[in-house]
Amino acid sequence: MEILIDTANVEKIRRYNEILNLTGVTCNPTIISKEKGDFWKILEEIRSVIGGKQLHVQVTAPDYEGMLREADVIADRLGRENTYIKVPVNETGLHVIRTLKEKGFKVTGTAVYMTQQAMLASSVGADYVAPYFNRMNNNNVRAGEAIAEMADLFRMHGTGTKILAASFHNTQQIMDAFLAGADACTADPSYYYAMVENPLIADAVRGFDDDWKSVYGDRRIYEL
Ligand code: E4P
Repeated sequence: MEILIDTANVEKIRRYNEILNLTGVTCNPTIISKEKGDFWKILEEIRSVIGGKQLHVQVTAPDYEGMLREADVIADRLGRENTYIKVPVNETGLHVIRTLKEKGFKVTGTAVYMTQQAMLASSVGADYVAPYFNRMNNNNVRAGEAIAEMADLFRMHGTGTKILAASFHNTQQIMDAFLAGADACTADPSYYYAMVENPLIADAVRGFDDDWKSVYGDRRIYEL
């Protein structure tokens, strides 16, 4: 199970890179725009915080040549080995993914809503495909079932493409994606926080603390 965080906020990345065993960081043009800063400064800072971990960066150009030029400069500045070029899986995107793979880039096919898109992206060599869990559900595509189909398909044909599920709007969606067979999930860190910080857990911890204090006061184990 690979855990990634879907943010370009350097402070959040610094914090969750310490707490979680992160595989990497993903972003898209919307996520970068939210930071309202210098594009390269943000990404180079993220790279320095996460070291050699995966960084998935999306192209913004709409055309074949433009996407290839962007991919070149992204990989040159952020590292060819561990920077994944995110390319939307439409017709131009497929062409771009095919060319990038021939040139040895790492590639993630993004904006995936349907198994057929994932199948084509995989057939041209995408390393990852990113199905958009919440957006799929909002468009009457059963995201869990589609991810299970993708996982079956890739396993059946031994394609080596991994499923990096994205677009999560609650914690259960992340669990459902992993249970359906996603290799990796990327989400805003607030969802991982919500998985382990809730009133039930806080109440259990408070109960232990009250019982401890009733006998040992404020002393800690290392003070006994
Ligand atoms: C991955 O980076 C995707 O672009 C992202 O998770 C989409 O999420 P959204 O549907 O919340 O915009």
